[in-house]
Amino acid sequence: MCGIVGYVGPRGSAAVLLGGLGRLEYRGYDSAGIAVISDTLDLRKRAGKLVALRDELESNPIVDGHTGIGHTRWATHGAPNDVNAHPHLADGGKLALIHNGIIENFAELKAELLAEGVEFLSETDSEVAAHLVAREYRECGNLTEALRRVVSRLHGAFTLLVVHEDAPNVVVGARRNSPLVIGLGEGENFLGSDVAAFIEYTRNALAIGQDQLVTITPTSVDVIDFDGNPVTPEPFEVTWDASAAEKGGWSSFMAKEISEEPQAVADTLRGRLVDGRVELSDLNPALLSGIDRVVIIGCGTAAYAGMVGKYAIEQWARIPVDVELSHEFRYRDPVVNDRTLVVSVSQSGETMDTLMAVKYAGEVGCRTLSICNTQGATIPRESDGVIYTHAGPEVAVASTKAFLAQVTALYLLGLAIAQENGNISDTVLADMVRDLAATPDQLKTVIEHSERIETMAKWMADTRAVLLLGRHVGYPVALEGALKLKELAYIHAEGFAAGELKHGPIALIEPGQIVFVIVPSPRDPNSLNAKVVSNIQEIRARGARVIAIAEQGDAGVLPYADEVIPIPLANPLIEPMLAVVPLHIFAMELASAKGLDVDQPRNLAKSVTVE
Ligand code: M6R
Repeated sequence: MCGIVGYVGPRGSAAVLLGGLGRLEYRGYDSAGIAVISDTLDLRKRAGKLVALRDELESNPIVDGHTGIGHTRWATHGAPNDVNAHPHLADGGKLALIHNGIIENFAELKAELLAEGVEFLSETDSEVAAHLVAREYRECGNLTEALRRVVSRLHGAFTLLVVHEDAPNVVVGARRNSPLVIGLGEGENFLGSDVAAFIEYTRNALAIGQDQLVTITPTSVDVIDFDGNPVTPEPFEVTWDASAAEKGGWSSFMAKEISEEPQAVADTLRGRLVDGRVELSDLNPALLSGIDRVVIIGCGTAAYAGMVGKYAIEQWARIPVDVELSHEFRYRDPVVNDRTLVVSVSQSGETMDTLMAVKYAGEVGCRTLSICNTQGATIPRESDGVIYTHAGPEVAVASTKAFLAQVTALYLLGLAIAQENGNISDTVLADMVRDLAATPDQLKTVIEHSERIETMAKWMADTRAVLLLGRHVGYPVALEGALKLKELAYIHAEGFAAGELKHGPIALIEPGQIVFVIVPSPRDPNSLNAKVVSNIQEIRARGARVIAIAEQGDAGVLPYADEVIPIPLANPLIEPMLAVVPLHIFAMELASAKGLDVDQPRNLAKSVTVE
């Protein structure tokens, strides 16, 4: 939540900041602003999406300089208006500060400043930090030291960037539980919430740890901890380039990212399937050795990927797997120990609920493993091990290709645990490795045959409610499909385990109610297909309009469904990966048919970096 960018170097900083904010806008789009230092500090900020700031800069150009900070906001304290937009000024307009996070003790700090006669313009918690830094700067004359003194007084989560007119060519940043990375250039340096902020200029980055401050000038980068001790930040190279974070010719980032789902799976598998076995060379094998329980944590789509993973890991490794929402796990005193592997799933690697749960898991003695799509992110840095998904940057707020990559990584993990504890036969292992390798091509087939879904979405544009039913691994797919419809099309959508139907949800069925049903393969060894086809008959008898997502050639379902979306024949554990794609496409098309912003749905932000 909130995107942050900082720049020092020879370029005109306004263009660098606006470019960075454009690539970070998915983190928040309630308002945006930049502050630039030429001889003096100048600032522009506007409520609304970045385009409003661009328009303002067009009609009221800023005096450009070579040092600046920029911010795109997801509002927490104070309405999303011009005044509450960042940056916030202090020291008579000579100091500008931007903030991502929540300063929990801001009221008490504000009272202290008000008593000293400080005037506040905004309702934000962030403006408090600006005035505190200004006060310390007047006293010590050093921006880094001023910020260092302030951070020790702040409670909560924050990334702060600050510039001062009297310290040109300097940007100072600090972080606690909110993201910040450094971009290294030639004669220029960058700061950003993530590498997308500066990917146009450099792929060389440094990760900053918790409770650290960074000071950048065009030729230097200095990192210290909150006690003032020097720290050596960890270098990493970004594996994707600027074009990966651009829309290209696509109508939306979401459309582009759905088209990349096969590649996301292929890239996540790359180099990890070797001679019919799984090799996770980036993982210390000791992490998996002797574990007797797995707890998967995540939020939203990541949690649904975890639910799919549970079925597979239990089937292969024969150890119990629980899946919990991170925020529930963190606050309920779970029974875990040093043989419990807590697996966090997060595209961004910055979701605050998941980060807090990972830290908690470490504190109570669990082993922690992160499944993450973002290099340099906080959650993998706080974990004992990481399996990176290689979905590439995901910009649309709705998660799509990351879900596929997360399921893939969980499957790799499940097979690796099963190899380690010996509970999987060589045949099952080899079959699964073969089937996983075939998945990207099967996903391509699903995407290539998706025109019918677009037509269906058009005739359903006025639909107010959609129900989704699934069983076994189809159940989390139903939940994922419902989440996409809520967040993109703003309709009531609910996923149910099909077996639960007669325990209540069937009362919702009335004539014309649209129900998507994810139908297990008729070849499923548990014969779940027949049970789900019975469910279809039950709801059809009560007037439901049934759209079945079923295996190609499943003749049993045809007489009872109003529409059938076919998916290729696959291993039952691969089916959820194939069945979710039409639901991603449907949600996108329904939102488009309703004229809604597919990439930036209302009230949301891509990374939820506050609890
Ligand atoms: O970055 P993360 O994977 O930790 O994000 C978790 C959720 O916030 C995220 O999946 C969210 O539910 C998506 N907007 C769903 O499309």
